[in-house]
Amino acid sequence: MKELYSGKAKTIYEYDKDKVLIEFRDDISAGNGAKKDVKEGKGALNAKISAKMFELLEKEGVKTHFIEYIEPNKILAKKVEIIPIEVIVRNIAAGSLCKRYPFKEGEELKEVIVQFDYKNDEYGDPMINEDIAVNLNLATREELKKMREIALKVNDILKKFFDEKGIILVDFKIEIGRDENGELLVADEISPDTMRLWDKETRERLDKDVFRRDLGDVIAKYKIVAERIFGGN
Ligand code: TMP
Repeated sequence: MKELYSGKAKTIYEYDKDKVLIEFRDDISAGNGAKKDVKEGKGALNAKISAKMFELLEKEGVKTHFIEYIEPNKILAKKVEIIPIEVIVRNIAAGSLCKRYPFKEGEELKEVIVQFDYKNDEYGDPMINEDIAVNLNLATREELKKMREIALKVNDILKKFFDEKGIILVDFKIEIGRDENGELLVADEISPDTMRLWDKETRERLDKDVFRRDLGDVIAKYKIVAERIFGGN
């Protein structure tokens, strides 16, 4: 299969003219590749968790690129044109929000924050607003409005899902793509690499912050997330 793209943690292959095979690798990185390692089993965990998240969204009426989970570490997905904007949704202050603004980590936000970051390594993925996105021809105003709506709906669905599993959805990032008809589909991955997940009781970190901040065995934490989601399955 022709390789279309290889990123920091995933490789995308052309399956056929309108489908891609996404391979989740065991590579882990933080700080735009400044910190790197390989963690055995990470790819499989993230593929399985992502597949479940996409299935859940589909079930709740959110359109995604997801077609099928291929064990252990691949997803078959519709080919889309990814809009180079990371759509970040925050329920609780953490990460870059606390570095850039006077929010305290763990503080419940008065209102949900939806943030757009321009996916561009050369410029360090800067936060942008609608006017900048439109001027850079990244998306139309109508698409940006829909992207915000999709992000908020995804937040409602995932927040409730994780709450029932004893996990707080602190924040997450999604990517959105256009299919051949210009319809917006949630794409890429939704995994502990792209969500902040805290245990509801202990506030133990169960996501990539464990790697970013050297808080312990990152795979052990991802396994806790998988265990809560899938139980014995
Ligand atoms: P941040 O606090 O570092 O801006 O991250 C917000 C959320 O977005 C967090 O759940 C991690 C996720 N994220 C990614 O998945 N990829 C990225 O490149 C960045 C910056 C954040």
